[in-house]
Amino acid sequence: MTLMWRKQLEIGDETIDVDHKYLVCMINTVELTMRTPEHRDLLPATLEQLVEYTHAHFKREESIMLLMNYPRYYQHKQQHQLLIQELGDIQQKIQAKGEEEFSDEECASLAQLFRHWLLDHLVKEDMQMKPYLTGK
Ligand SMILES: [Fe+2]
Repeated sequence: MTLMWRKQLEIGDETIDVDHKYLVCMINTVELTMRTPEHRDLLPATLEQLVEYTHAHFKREESIMLLMNYPRYYQHKQQHQLLIQELGDIQQKIQAKGEEEFSDEECASLAQLFRHWLLDHLVKEDMQMKPYLTGK
């Protein structure tokens, strides 16, 4: 199932919000390439793009936190490091399949992992920046 962006997920900084929307698109693309046998060969590249974009996004988010003297900077940065490890684990799981096709159940459970991976952090950790970014 496609992951849809919702306005409630905005945290009030354009750079971060645009990055998050793009991450949602990339997760959807990875899921689509997993589910579509004729696009299966694109999967390693789409996954690699997601990993690279995630690194770049975390760096941007961390610079913004530093600029505004965000009090949870270190905790938040640690969370990013964990997320990078988790993403690496998911990537390995997918790569371990080699050329083999994914069953519907496998697609659904991997899609679920990606969703938790992004949305849990966004809602629990990123959202705490909102009052500092918007003054509300
Ligand atoms: Fe974050």
